[in-house]
Amino acid sequence: MEEGLKRFVDRHVIITGAGSGIGQGIAHRFASEGAKVVVADIDQEGGKKVEDAIKAKGGTAVFIPVNVASEDSINELIQKAVEQFGPLHIGVSNAGISETQSSALEITTEEWDRIYGVNTRGSFMFCRACGNVMMEHEIKGSIVTISSIMGRGAKNMTGAYASSKAAVIMFTKSLAKALAPMGIRVNNVAPGMVSTNLYRPVESEMLMEKDSFVPWIIEQCIESGQLLIPREGTPDDMAAAVAFLSSDEAAYITAQVLCVDGGMDWCW
Ligand SMILES: NC(=O)c1ccc[n+]([C@@H]2O[C@H](COP(=O)([O-])OP(=O)(O)OC[C@H]3O[C@@H](n4cnc5c(N)ncnc54)[C@H](O)[C@@H]3O)[C@@H](O)[C@H]2O)c1
Repeated sequence: MEEGLKRFVDRHVIITGAGSGIGQGIAHRFASEGAKVVVADIDQEGGKKVEDAIKAKGGTAVFIPVNVASEDSINELIQKAVEQFGPLHIGVSNAGISETQSSALEITTEEWDRIYGVNTRGSFMFCRACGNVMMEHEIKGSIVTISSIMGRGAKNMTGAYASSKAAVIMFTKSLAKALAPMGIRVNNVAPGMVSTNLYRPVESEMLMEKDSFVPWIIEQCIESGQLLIPREGTPDDMAAAVAFLSSDEAAYITAQVLCVDGGMDWCW
C-alpha cells in the first residue's frame, strides 16, 4: 500500500458512484489511507475495474452493484457491505447524473424526475440507510454528500440538476441535526468543474468534442476573472476534502458545505 497519511485504517467506507470520475478518486484516497472500501456503482464494468485497481496497489476493496434510485437496491448494498466488512464507519453519497442543457422551461417532467430520483431522492435514501446502520452498531461515523457549485447559484441551462443539488445541501443539514445526538457527523462537498463522464450529455447536446465542455467553461471563467485558481478541479482535489471531513481531524465539523471550486464565482 502507498505511503502517506493513514487516517482510516480498518474503517469501513461505502462510496456510491465510485466506478468513475470523482467517486473513483475518493475510493482510491480512502484505500491508500488504509480503509476497507466498498465501490458501489450501477456500472458493473467501471466498479469492478476500480476494485481491481485498488487491490493491485495493495488496498482492500470490493465492488457491490447498486442503483441508488431504488430503495431495495440500497438496502441490499448496505446488507452485503456489512456482511463483507463489518460495521459501517463512513458513507459517501457521490453518485449523480446531469441533464442535457435544457432550460427550466424546456425540461420535461420525466427528465426532472430522473435527475431528482438519483441526485436527491437517491442520495437521501442512501444517507438515511447509512445513518440507520451506524446507529444500529453504535458507530459515531461520518456521512459526506456531494452537491455542486451549481447547487449554490441558479443557471439557466441546468434547472433540474442545480435545484437537485441545492436540495442535497439542505437535507445534509437536516440529517446532521437528526444524527448529531448519536455522534454522527454529516457534511457536504460542493465541487467546481472537473472533467468526467458527467458532462457527456451536455457535450452531445452542444455538439462538442468529448472532454471539451469543462475546459471551455474554465477558459471563460479565467478570462472573466471568475476563477481565482486558474485551472479545473481534479478528482484528487475532491477526494482530499471528502477524506478530511470524514477524518477525526474534522471531529468538530458538522452540517457544513465545503466548496472545492478554486474560488469560482460563475454565472451564465
Ligand atoms: N464533474 C464535475 O465537474 C462535478 C461538479 C460538481 C458536482 N459533481 C458531482 O460529483 C458526483 C460525481 O460525478 P462525476 O463528475 O464523477 O461523474 P461521473 O459520471 O464520472 O460519475 C458518476 C458515477 O455515478 C454512477 N451512477 C449514476 N447513476 C447511478 C445510480 N442510479 N446508482 C448508482 N450509481 C450511479 C455512474 O455510473 C458513475 O460511475 C456527482 O454527484 C456530480 O453531480 C461533479
